[in-house]
Amino acid sequence: MKLNIALLAGDGIGPEVIDQAVKVSNAIAQKFNHEISWTSALTGAAAIDAVGEPYPDETHQVCLDADAILFGAIGHPRFDNDPSAKVRPEQGLLKMRQKLGLFANVRPTFTFPSLLDKSPLKKERIEGTDLVFLRELTGGIYFGERGRKDDGNTAFDTCTYTRAEVKRIAKKGFEFAMTRSKRLCCVDKANVLESSRLWRETVQAMEKDYPEVEVAYEFVDAVAMRLVQWPNSYDVLITENLFGDILTDEASVISGSMGLMPSASVGEENALYEPIHGSYPQATGLNIANPLATVLSAAMMFEMSFDLQVEGALIRKVVEQALQKGYVTEDLADGGKAYGTKEVGDYLVDAILK
Ligand code: IPM
Ligand code: MG
Repeated sequence: MKLNIALLAGDGIGPEVIDQAVKVSNAIAQKFNHEISWTSALTGAAAIDAVGEPYPDETHQVCLDADAILFGAIGHPRFDNDPSAKVRPEQGLLKMRQKLGLFANVRPTFTFPSLLDKSPLKKERIEGTDLVFLRELTGGIYFGERGRKDDGNTAFDTCTYTRAEVKRIAKKGFEFAMTRSKRLCCVDKANVLESSRLWRETVQAMEKDYPEVEVAYEFVDAVAMRLVQWPNSYDVLITENLFGDILTDEASVISGSMGLMPSASVGEENALYEPIHGSYPQATGLNIANPLATVLSAAMMFEMSFDLQVEGALIRKVVEQALQKGYVTEDLADGGKAYGTKEVGDYLVDAILK
């Protein structure tokens, strides 16, 4: 198969972890006779420095032309500490999500048998956890009307959802549930928010189209609690943009390291794959960042964009092997030997080609 992939390395450790995912993907291509053509483009602070804008038009075109997009990380401390900065790397991310129509953010949380002790939660609580959040990504309070009034002394952000927006993410949720354990949880705050009542009403009306799926409706505050109490009681969860932002960070600690969890952001036409971690600026260029979340994002790309399930499964298998054998970066080394970002990538490549 011929795969056209846009490569957005971004800022901080982005380029280093992306390099490993490219190496691993190329090894997979070699083993299974695929041909990957990579096209790099600028995003984030790197793009602001080069052309004054975090998601330039040229980058957008590269993304539109590609079959899939592999993304590293964006963000730079020099913007975080300057509230008056007019252009910020994160704006690039939001613009990219909106312009590419990436309305469904797929964020799985699973545990690795060899890492159960790394989680801050008790082993017996997290064993067997395998859940996936579908976070709505192009609507809600992130993109609603906002502003200041009363001479700047009052600020507001509004959350708006249309029935059509809820329907398309809920459809993805039902479809995911059908391929898994057929359980779907709709997370909202319908006891207070009108937009949540629209979510609930819309999902309820769709239940009849998926008679095999068992749907639960839970309030976001209760989910925040149960997620760390009994994470293995959940399967597929759908939720709006801001609730999803918060809950998926919470869910990421279950697996034991931020450096492990991949994600996909998909729309009707485009799909982008990225690690859930940020740009980790302190580690830039030090060859210490964990590349596994990005490598697992590449696995999701093979599976979801190209339906290459065997290829994805092999990547997951060699990642599990690296963890078992201790070929890990310092975040997981636990006093044992820590390998470099690049060396972990080399191990994976060798394991694939062996
Ligand atoms: C995420 C991030 C972004 C978000 C930020 C960087 C704008 O936290 O992808 O979860 O809030 O969506
Ligand atoms: Mg977030």
